[in-house]
Amino acid sequence: MHPLEQLREDALRDIEAARDAKSLESVRVKYLGKTGSISEWGEQMKTLGKEERPAVGKLLNQARTAITAALEQCGEKVRAESESEALSTIDLSLPGTPHEIGALHPLTQMWQRSIEIFRRMGFALADGPDIEDEWHCFDALNTPPEHPARTEQDTFYLADGRLLRTHTSTVQIRTMESVPPPIRVIAPGAAYRNEELNATHSPQFHQIEGLYVDENVSVADLKGELEFFMRELFGLDTEVQFRPHFFPFTEPSLEVYVRSKALKGGEQWIEVAGCGIVHPAVFEAVNKGRGDDAYDPERWSGYAFGLGMDRLAMILFDIPDIRLFAQNDLRFLRQFA
Ligand code: FA5
Repeated sequence: MHPLEQLREDALRDIEAARDAKSLESVRVKYLGKTGSISEWGEQMKTLGKEERPAVGKLLNQARTAITAALEQCGEKVRAESESEALSTIDLSLPGTPHEIGALHPLTQMWQRSIEIFRRMGFALADGPDIEDEWHCFDALNTPPEHPARTEQDTFYLADGRLLRTHTSTVQIRTMESVPPPIRVIAPGAAYRNEELNATHSPQFHQIEGLYVDENVSVADLKGELEFFMRELFGLDTEVQFRPHFFPFTEPSLEVYVRSKALKGGEQWIEVAGCGIVHPAVFEAVNKGRGDDAYDPERWSGYAFGLGMDRLAMILFDIPDIRLFAQNDLRFLRQFA
């Protein structure tokens, strides 16, 4: 037997005897490694005479191919064995640990639906802090010091004079102070008022503020866009009515009422938002805060609105009491899963 044939047989026997990945690897190194037997034979080839070379070369190739194939095959076997050994310690017949699949809170659902519609209409998201100063909550919004909203009876004040924002309209000011016109943003967030908790009022509630500032913005834009929004939200049969109202920061100011089959069978008009054309005094205040004339009321106009999210969710889902949103009662929450 040629020594190369002997080498091949020895190698195959070693591979056969290997029981795990580690011993298999040392067999591989012994024969195929840089200084392994096969490589050594490769070196020796160079010293052989011309007539000997082809036959030895053939044997060498055969040995290398056979060893490589055997290593691969055995490697597969060893891997499969160690995997099934690991699996054997697991009892596949044991019942699994069930994952509780949660659901979104009805207010969050309402919020997401509304934001999705506004985003389609080209509104970007804006944000502002819940703890505010009087400037952003009142002064810049044309609300004078003697306004009732500014008393402690209506507003939660902190010891340092700051307050919990009473509406998301603060974000109108914050946004205009940081970016020049034109702007088109919505700002969803919490608002706080010092009010008695009852079925329809909560000291903490949620609003989506909207602000659009551009050249030649009119009440027609405001009405058209809010009508579109209400129909997307409550259904195509939704009727929208705008009634005159008063807010210090808009002129004219309007309240939005809707009537739709989806809402209490369409029997009554329901108030869902406050809105209006941004008061020039608000632009002036913003300019003062910015220290420039970016919001020149002669050039820019805008509309703003504020939607009460809790009330919207209550009418859409027919929820009788605002307190249910915060009680965390699973019997209530499961109905919206
Ligand atoms: C405002 O808060 C104005 N900032 C809205 C606005 C924005 C007008 C921009 C013009 C331009 P109002 O106080 O009406 O307006 O509140 C708006 C909505 O918030 C109400 O329609 C109501 O749905 C909701 N809301 C107010 N107070 C409470 C409360 N205590 N509990 C639950 N929801 C409330």
